[in-house]
Amino acid sequence: MKQRTSKDHNSQMIEGAILEDGKSLSNWDVFTHIQGGQRNGANGDVANDHYRRYLEDIELVQSLGVNAYRFSISWARVLPRGRFGEVNPTGIMFYNKIIDNLLLKGIEPFVTINHNDFPQELEDRYGSWLSPLMQEDFVHFAETCFKNFGDRVKYWITINEPNLFLSHATAAKLYHEHFQPKHGGFIGIVACAFMYEPLTDNEFDKEAASRALAFDLAWIFDPLVFGDYPPEMRRYQGNELPRFSAEERKFIKGSIDFIGINHYSTFYAKDCIHSSCILEGNDHIMGFSYITGERNGVPIGEPTGMDGLYIVPRGMEKIIDYLKKRYHNKPIFVLENGYAQQRQGIAVQDLLHDVKRIEFHKAYLSSLATAIRNGADVRGYFIWTLMDDFEWLNGYSIAFGLYYVDRPTLRRIPKLSAKWYTDFLTNSTITG
Ligand code: NOJ
Repeated sequence: MKQRTSKDHNSQMIEGAILEDGKSLSNWDVFTHIQGGQRNGANGDVANDHYRRYLEDIELVQSLGVNAYRFSISWARVLPRGRFGEVNPTGIMFYNKIIDNLLLKGIEPFVTINHNDFPQELEDRYGSWLSPLMQEDFVHFAETCFKNFGDRVKYWITINEPNLFLSHATAAKLYHEHFQPKHGGFIGIVACAFMYEPLTDNEFDKEAASRALAFDLAWIFDPLVFGDYPPEMRRYQGNELPRFSAEERKFIKGSIDFIGINHYSTFYAKDCIHSSCILEGNDHIMGFSYITGERNGVPIGEPTGMDGLYIVPRGMEKIIDYLKKRYHNKPIFVLENGYAQQRQGIAVQDLLHDVKRIEFHKAYLSSLATAIRNGADVRGYFIWTLMDDFEWLNGYSIAFGLYYVDRPTLRRIPKLSAKWYTDFLTNSTITG
């Protein structure tokens, strides 16, 4: 695996064309037509019209000077009825064109097979991921992708930010047995990876921070690397924690070739076993609270435009170091890292002059460089994201892009950060 400095994107967030050329409605297409939420009625029907403008967008990727691009395949475009219908040849053609054009420009495609969206029919039939039947759908979809794109795509991410070990492992086994020997690629998974620091220097908070990492991060990678949930979880939850059968352990263990993380921010963890806490959501089953983000009234870092995300560059070095030690220096890809900015009420000139985003990336990259200098096997870094897009529940109100997208015309305009990134890639090296 070579080192990559790169960019990424998700199909649902940029493609649009939700019912064109044989594509069926995805769960998100349907969901976003239900009123309410923070989206102000926004949906991804048009999104950035990447479906038609993909060539222009690949030019943008190239002009940045990156050597890899991460994107996801729309399940509903390739298999409009999941395993209950035929492959859509126009869908396959679309992704073939993207892959071929990237390769022509010397850009390595990194493909996420499932990034939140799937055909609505699977939701209607059996509630999608709530049913074990969905495993069969996922593996069928993954196999369709490996068969059609596996000769050219060498980096696969089964699922973005998952809780679906058996689906992942079944697809990975298929890849390892039938496609990797032929094509020589790699397969992994990507987890949402926040760093945790103790709220105070007391031992209980330190334990809470390590429990937080186990419950939030290691609970994905421990089963995939070692075959079981983290001991910290077992110690705290005892018999309440589900047990894998011997076959399941064997099956999931070793099912990743690399560790993928989406890292944005760091939280404080506060012990809630020995001290009182106001518990929210799942906090009571984990024995810690991580919602504070403040120590003695001082925020952990500067806030960004997205609730709960603070700028804490040191978190990058720390989380990489944690993964390096815990997983015996398995190769790591940082598959998302980005700065959120509110779009609403901000003048376009200010959105384009995104100095804060540049500072964010400089600081996080420098922290990553320290982790690499300390021996971490980091193979790539992807900025989230190429251009402002349909940001799930936040619609178009939050911008992560290096390119600004003018909503009425969909024109892509480089922000200062796009120019900075190109310059950075031309004149610097991550390892310094
Ligand atoms: C992680 C998700 O993978 C991505 O789709 C999302 O846009 C970012 N987080 C920012 O919220």
